[in-house]
Amino acid sequence: MKRVFNQHYLILTFSTLLAFLIGFSTEAQAQKKKKTKTKDGVTSTMDKGSIEAAITEAYNKYKDLKEGKNADYIPELAKVPSEQFAIVVVTADGQVYSKGDIDALYSIQSISKVITLAKNIEDSGAKAIQDKIGVDPTGQKFNSAVLVEERKGMEINPLVNAGAIASTSMIKGNNYEEKWKTIMQIHNDFAGRQLAVNDPVYKSEAATNQHNQALASLMNSFERMYFDPAQSVDIYTKQCAINVNTKDLAMMAATLANGGTNPVTKKKVVSPQTVAHTLPVMATCGLYDDSGIWFYNVGLPAKSGVGGGIMAVVPGQYGIAAFSPRLDEAGNSVRAQKAITDIVNKLNLNPYLVQPKP
Ligand code: DON
Repeated sequence: MKRVFNQHYLILTFSTLLAFLIGFSTEAQAQKKKKTKTKDGVTSTMDKGSIEAAITEAYNKYKDLKEGKNADYIPELAKVPSEQFAIVVVTADGQVYSKGDIDALYSIQSISKVITLAKNIEDSGAKAIQDKIGVDPTGQKFNSAVLVEERKGMEINPLVNAGAIASTSMIKGNNYEEKWKTIMQIHNDFAGRQLAVNDPVYKSEAATNQHNQALASLMNSFERMYFDPAQSVDIYTKQCAINVNTKDLAMMAATLANGGTNPVTKKKVVSPQTVAHTLPVMATCGLYDDSGIWFYNVGLPAKSGVGGGIMAVVPGQYGIAAFSPRLDEAGNSVRAQKAITDIVNKLNLNPYLVQPKP
C-alpha cells in the first residue's frame, strides 16, 4: 500500500514539474515574441498593461496643471475650453490606448504642415522640397518675417509659417479646388477617417491672418511661392482648421511610425522613403524655436500646433499624441509636452538611450 502511494506521489510530482516546465517555456517564448520583429518589420516590445499604466500616470500627474494659456491671436482658439486634456497611443500595428477627453475635437493647426510636407515629398521628391523651400531649422518664432527677409526666402523649412505656406502652394493641382481636395484627402488617409474643417476657426483665422498674407507676399517677392500667394494662404488657413481628435493625431503619427501605411485601414498613404525624409524635419523643426530643447530631452520627432495638440513618432513602434490648449511662450502645449515626455521616459522609447553591450 505504502509502495503504491509512493509511486502515485512520484508520478504526481513528475507531472507537476513537467507542467511547470512547459508553462515556463511557453511564457518565455511569449516574452521573446513580444520583442521579436514581426514579418512586417514592426517591433512590439511593450505589453498592454505598461502602456496603459504610463498613460494613466502621466494623465493623473498633469491633469490639474494650469500653466500656459490658450492661443488668442486666432480669436476662436481663445474660446476652446482650457481644461481639456487627452492622451492617446496607437501602436504601429493599430492598437489604441487612450485617456481623458478623447472625443474633444480641435483644429489641427501646424500639425497639418507635416501631412502636407509628406504629400509634397511623395509627389515632387525629397530634393524638390530641399531646393524650393529648405529643410533647415530656423531657431526663430514660427511666424518670423525677419527670417524670410534675412534668408531671402531660402533655406527655411516647411514647418514654420512662411515655408508651410510655400509648401501648400507646391501641392499638385491646377487650381484652388484641386489643391484643396488633395490636401483634405491626404489628411483623411493619415487619420484613417473622413475629417472636416472647423468653419468658425477657419473664418476666424481668415479674418485675422494679415501677417501670414504678408509672409506669402514676401516669399513671393523672392520667387519662393509656387501658386497664387493669396489663394495659397487661404488653402493653408483651411488646412490648419481641419478638426481632429487626439486619436486622429495619434493615428497620423502611427501611420508615420508604420512606414507610411495606416495601421488600421492598411492604406499605403506615403512611401517609407517619404517618411524617412519627413521625420528628420519634424525632429529638427517640429517644436519651432524650442525644437532643440524638445529633441535634447525626448529624442523623438514631434510636431505641435497652436490648437494644443502634439504628435510624436517612435519609428517602427508607436504614434503618441496629447492635447491640452494651454501653450507656452514658443506656442507649444504645456501639458502635451510634459505628458509625452513622461510616457517616452516611462516606456523607455528614446532611441538614443542605449545600454552598453555586456
Ligand atoms: O498660421 C498660423 O499661425 C496657424 N494657423 C498655425 C500656427 C501654429 O500652429 C504654430 N504652432 N505651434
